[in-house]
Amino acid sequence: ELPQHGDFVVFGATGDLALRKLLPALFHRDREGQLPDDFRIVGVSRTETDDAGFRSIVADALAEHVPAAELDAAAVRRLLGRLHHLTLDAHDPTDWHRLAGLLKDDELGVRSGPDGPLDVVRVYYLAVAPSLFGPICRQLDEIGLVTPSSRVVMEKPIGHDLASSRQINDAVGEVFAESQIFRIDHYLGKESVQNLLVTRFANTLLEPLWSSRWIDHVEITVAESLGVGDRGGYYDHAGALRDMVQNHLLQLLCLVAMEPPTYVGRENVRDEKLKVLQALRPLGPADVARDVVRGQYVGSGDGDPAYADEVGRPDTTTETYVAIRAEISNWRWAGVPFYLRTGKRLSDRVSQIVVQFKEPPHAMFPNAEGGGGPNRLHILVQPEEGMRLHLTAKEPGPGGIRLRPVSLDLSYAAAFDQRSPEAYERLLMDVVRGNPTLFMRRDEVEAAWTWVTPILEHWRAADAAGDRPLAYPAGTTGPAAADALLGRDGRTWQEFD
Ligand code: BG6
Repeated sequence: ELPQHGDFVVFGATGDLALRKLLPALFHRDREGQLPDDFRIVGVSRTETDDAGFRSIVADALAEHVPAAELDAAAVRRLLGRLHHLTLDAHDPTDWHRLAGLLKDDELGVRSGPDGPLDVVRVYYLAVAPSLFGPICRQLDEIGLVTPSSRVVMEKPIGHDLASSRQINDAVGEVFAESQIFRIDHYLGKESVQNLLVTRFANTLLEPLWSSRWIDHVEITVAESLGVGDRGGYYDHAGALRDMVQNHLLQLLCLVAMEPPTYVGRENVRDEKLKVLQALRPLGPADVARDVVRGQYVGSGDGDPAYADEVGRPDTTTETYVAIRAEISNWRWAGVPFYLRTGKRLSDRVSQIVVQFKEPPHAMFPNAEGGGGPNRLHILVQPEEGMRLHLTAKEPGPGGIRLRPVSLDLSYAAAFDQRSPEAYERLLMDVVRGNPTLFMRRDEVEAAWTWVTPILEHWRAADAAGDRPLAYPAGTTGPAAADALLGRDGRTWQEFD
């Protein structure tokens, strides 16, 4: 299925995402022998550099982001040999024609075989601001660089609200068919996230228990310990809701909650995820006030800076933390709360999904000492990848029955003696192969925006009324109000573990 001839064109090639994720991912795939011989990587950016300069920028990035043991010299040379760079000012038509010249012909050798022009799969990866997605696609079309074998990849967030995401999707859709558009959500490429589908649907054990009948509630936590770093310019306009919830957290929720598709194929999984997004109970103003917590980190005693200082805007109301109590209004999930939370500069970097089951229907050990607590399945997304099932057991001993919690632990690292590829490795190869299963379809993105819109509107009104996000000190687990969100329901968050 891999094409024989390919061009991978990265717009924003000297940016953070390209250097930290995309090029290292292509390096790994190349090292494994997965890139065809005729596969060029063309970096496009505003940076004034040439092929040699770009190769040295990428060589430095690989040295920084690929573990030394995996950085073998021959593979580095091969990848660097694929690289070209074009300095492009998006407003300058001559630059676009230079790009067309570069891709189509002479400079790099005409790509035609004995039977005429070769079918070159061209991937255009837009690692730039979403406002440029439409204009870049239009330009590519005008200079004749869009063919049925072309694909475009868009990074999230697509737009900043429903209306702007529609505009972008319309503009890109005028040039590319939906089947050529790959909206990336890199969480879907994580091994542990793909494994969620396998855990649910390739085993018989869980599915009969997977509903409101046996499940009490679900928690989805994506905690980060880093702050915004030098991405403040982007982040301060986005905030945690647009940066993480609208995409990554809702996609995780979809995979936990969706119905079994007939098979894992092009549209089936996306069809089922869409149904979950459409079944999310809409949040009215009163719901947002009650069920959504927005926080922003402030400095800690340990010298961690406050968010507002990091972005240099003392009045910023951008949220770096969100917790939400959500519900899915369908037969399987009615009445089961899904608690979502994500934040920056928290105490640890942990992503996990906790499925808490109901207490046994009948307490058979009324006088037993201790207690095991309800069963819980912890799906460990990162950094540790695996699963932990919390059960109750009898503590050994002659003096009566004492109940104790025990856990069955599955660590993927221990179970599989092989390197777990980074999310982007899988996803970039899926684009090259033309497999959209793990990408967001337009209707999914729009359903997700529809659901988060009342939150954005509520916050806009709150800002106008002088409200601010709740402060939490850097290095903690977030605002106390997030604990109250569960406390109100008689529940507590599981620690990040
Ligand atoms: C990105 C967000 O999509 O995901 C970042 O823009 C965030 O703000 C990152 O840090 C988290 O990804 P991961 O793979 O490190 O969990």
